[in-house]
Amino acid sequence: MEQILLKVENLNIEFHDHDVPERVVNQLNMVLHQGEILGIVGESGSGKSMTAMAIAGLLRRHDMKMEGKILFEGNELLHTDRETLRQLQGNQIGIVFQEPMTSLNPVKRIGWQVEESLRIHRPELSKEERYMRVIKALEEVELDNPQLVYKKYPHELSGGMRQRVMIASAMICEPKLLIADEPTTALDVTIQLQIVKLLQRLNQEKKMAVLFISHDLSLVKRLCDRVIVMHNGSMVETGRTEEIFYSPKEDYTIKLISAIPKLEKLV
Ligand SMILES: Nc1ncnc2c1ncn2[C@@H]1O[C@H](COP(=O)(O)OP(=O)(O)OP(=O)(O)O)[C@@H](O)[C@H]1O
Ligand SMILES: [Mg+2]
Repeated sequence: MEQILLKVENLNIEFHDHDVPERVVNQLNMVLHQGEILGIVGESGSGKSMTAMAIAGLLRRHDMKMEGKILFEGNELLHTDRETLRQLQGNQIGIVFQEPMTSLNPVKRIGWQVEESLRIHRPELSKEERYMRVIKALEEVELDNPQLVYKKYPHELSGGMRQRVMIASAMICEPKLLIADEPTTALDVTIQLQIVKLLQRLNQEKKMAVLFISHDLSLVKRLCDRVIVMHNGSMVETGRTEEIFYSPKEDYTIKLISAIPKLEKLV
């Protein structure tokens, strides 16, 4: 068994922006091994994104209360200082969200944006070295003519190309963990499959662990080694992908799986 990369212990996340606190993640425990692909599934509002954002250190708000531990290579992240988080984000932990258009700056060229984490985390590199790394990253996410893509603006690319650019940005510093929160939801079906295959290839080649969050159970089934099923902020079941899909134990999981369209079950 590979070494543990990420361990979440008794994670609670509560919003305190109303009179009554709202707990959106409840006593969550999970482990992600080096190089592993872990899926989180569950209906809308089940706490998937809140979990992902807490792990990425993006939930630092005065109206929220978080308890528990998030251990990344043994270091506790939930209550660590901002500088430590800044050193991890984009460097050891890469993040890709659903809608690349909101994550990309519309007035900056693609190359400049993909380069961002290198400017922050690899200041020792020269301009030319950074350029070469960006071109290589664009090639790795299978974008044709990377020199041309480098000079483009986000609106000049298709949705699928933009998501590849986001993956290139997230991976430019070769993180140990890639968090992908609904990375394919805004894309059409054939492109979704291409992105999943790309993540699979990058996971294998770079030995990069992936936390893959999706509504789409057929994609999760294809990609993930293990799966966590969430409902109302709690984990209802976890196991190897084949256990979850072929011998689910909990009623909620059974219901969720029976909702996959029949055709997709055959894929
Ligand atoms: N500012 C807020 N105040 C109170 N509750 C909030 C706030 N923002 C989000 N929530 C709640 O947190 C819960 C978990 O949300 P989260 O975004 O993690 O769900 P999700 O599983 O990612 O859903 P989806 O599949 O739609 O992306 C939801 O019930 C949501 O209503
Ligand atoms: Mg979400």
